[in-house]
Amino acid sequence: MRALHFIAWLPLASAFNSYRSTLTDCLNAGSVPILLTSSPGWSQEIAPYNLRFTPAPTVRTAVKCANKANVKATVKGGGHSYGAFGLAGTMVIDMMEFQNVTLDAATGIASVGAGLRLGNMATKLFQLGQRGLPHGTCPGVGIGGHATLGGFGLDSRLWGLTLDTVVALDVVLANGTAATVTATQHGDLFWALRGAGPGFAVITQFHMKTFPAPSVNINWSHSWSFSSASAAAAAFLAAQNWGQQNAPKELGYGIVVGPAGGFTLRGVYYGAKSDYEAIIAPLLALMKSVTGGAQPSSSVQVLGWIDSLTALAGSSLSTPVQGYDLHDTFYAKSIDTKESATLSITALQGLFKYLFTTTPPGGAQWFILANLYGGPGSVINSFPPSTDPSSTSCYANRDGGYVWQFYAFTGNSQPPFNPAIITFVKNMVGSLGAEAAGLPAYAPYADPQFTQTEAQVRYWGAGVPRLKAIKSQVDPKGILYNPQGF
Ligand SMILES: Cc1cc2nc3c(=O)[nH]c(=O)nc-3n(C[C@H](O)[C@H](O)[C@H](O)COP(=O)(O)OP(=O)(O)OC[C@H]3O[C@@H](n4cnc5c(N)ncnc54)[C@H](O)[C@@H]3O)c2cc1C
Ligand SMILES: *[C@@H]1O[C@H](CO)[C@@H](O)[C@H](O)[C@H]1NC(C)=O
Ligand SMILES: *[C@@H]1O[C@H](CO)[C@@H](O)[C@H](O)[C@H]1NC(C)=O
Ligand SMILES: *[C@@H]1O[C@H](CO)[C@@H](O)[C@H](O)[C@H]1NC(C)=O
Repeated sequence: MRALHFIAWLPLASAFNSYRSTLTDCLNAGSVPILLTSSPGWSQEIAPYNLRFTPAPTVRTAVKCANKANVKATVKGGGHSYGAFGLAGTMVIDMMEFQNVTLDAATGIASVGAGLRLGNMATKLFQLGQRGLPHGTCPGVGIGGHATLGGFGLDSRLWGLTLDTVVALDVVLANGTAATVTATQHGDLFWALRGAGPGFAVITQFHMKTFPAPSVNINWSHSWSFSSASAAAAAFLAAQNWGQQNAPKELGYGIVVGPAGGFTLRGVYYGAKSDYEAIIAPLLALMKSVTGGAQPSSSVQVLGWIDSLTALAGSSLSTPVQGYDLHDTFYAKSIDTKESATLSITALQGLFKYLFTTTPPGGAQWFILANLYGGPGSVINSFPPSTDPSSTSCYANRDGGYVWQFYAFTGNSQPPFNPAIITFVKNMVGSLGAEAAGLPAYAPYADPQFTQTEAQVRYWGAGVPRLKAIKSQVDPKGILYNPQGF
């Protein structure tokens, strides 16, 4: 087994002493580097993106040692889990040393180490062969948690989710055995790893389909500012329904709502500017009629591939391999609406009335983002449902319309976190009323307020019984841990 970069931590120091010699002896015998609480750089190494969580720490090790000592292990990729779940184990396996990216020019298949962050991965794929693949906008997000749970970018309606591009995975199983997992080799595990990955295996390398990077990318946005809840709700309804019915798959499309009546339609169009203009003109005409002629503030830029990723990131794509230090302190919830059921004007009026009349607690800031996943020709929805016998992924939302995210953070992104922010966010969703109650949620936007049982149903729906059965086969001792998984 390769020398993974292992970190272990344990909240209860006394309990740790009983594991300590078993673990450290086992690790030392295998020459695995061990990072201790006393090591330089420790606190930076263990800091999750979400500073609302402050995991208490300890060591570096291997899955076999976790088995021997019978401790729960979690894997840390980019550390961007909304619940800091990569750091939730007694032992934490840090993948940061897996930084290789290669591209097979003949097949277009890229092999990507599990320690890559999205920005560095995208840069490398472009350098290697002007290729790209669908993924999120934040350069610091790790491929480890992204490609195992979902992975949405504005190009996902065109190309699929990140997990849809995965054709093979090099893994270490819970019993310490290395394996390559594909649709035909450990097929059950392949289905589980593409959607509910954390807790089913430690992935060391992803093999993914790539696409020729589009040379013309239209970075577009149109913004309005509304002074009443009813005006904002009417605009939202029109924009929501237009996208669902009319947006071609080349049009990445999202609705952003912010404080003070802020309302933005934005995305990227992957194609010529004249085509973009023809497609967007009817939307702008519709918005004009709904808003009583209000003039949006607009930005439409023609960019190359890397420049468009950089524009979406709002920063350089390059992130340091060691010492990554970008954080927030926040709580977020998500809902996946069904393609067959956009939210009604009544639900939207409830939401905007709440937003217009509620002061966020303690200077918190917030945004709401509704990204279109479905709509005409969406590749995300072109795959069979997870329960179909032909399905090779447990991702549950193949009939999705929009994935909504409700996100609030401390004003300066630093602790302390006022728990009233959690209620504030829950009430945003609650204000939509019965239509939003019980809707599925998007697993990459982990909601640590869900119980494990509720989380499983919201994230994986009808796939839960099969996931439980696979888990009991591949990890009967429960060594690999995901607090909301199996
Ligand atoms: C600022 C920000 C922006 C985001 N933008 C987007 C976006 O545009 N689109 C989108 O879809 N999502 C987005 N997300 C959500 C993101 O996809 C998830 O948080 C993702 O799970 C993070 O992966 P990670 O490796 O960085 O996190 P980690 O916290 O390291 O890991 C997340 C989970 O995956 C497990 N895991 C990680 N690596 C491995 C591995 N090699 N083997 C097995 N399990 C592993 C961990 O144990 C943990 O349970 C964003 C998140 C943040 C914080
Ligand atoms: C990365 O690639 C180099 C050169 O091909 C190889 O020697 C090394 O083993 C690879 N490392 C990992 C972690 O895959
Ligand atoms: C790209 O669009 C976003 C809005 O989606 C905007 O914030 C950004 O400034 C734009 N950047 C460029 C370079 O056009
Ligand atoms: C490890 O687990 C896998 C998957 O359950 C199994 O196929 C394999 O035989 C196991 N190996 C050992 C050495 O127990």
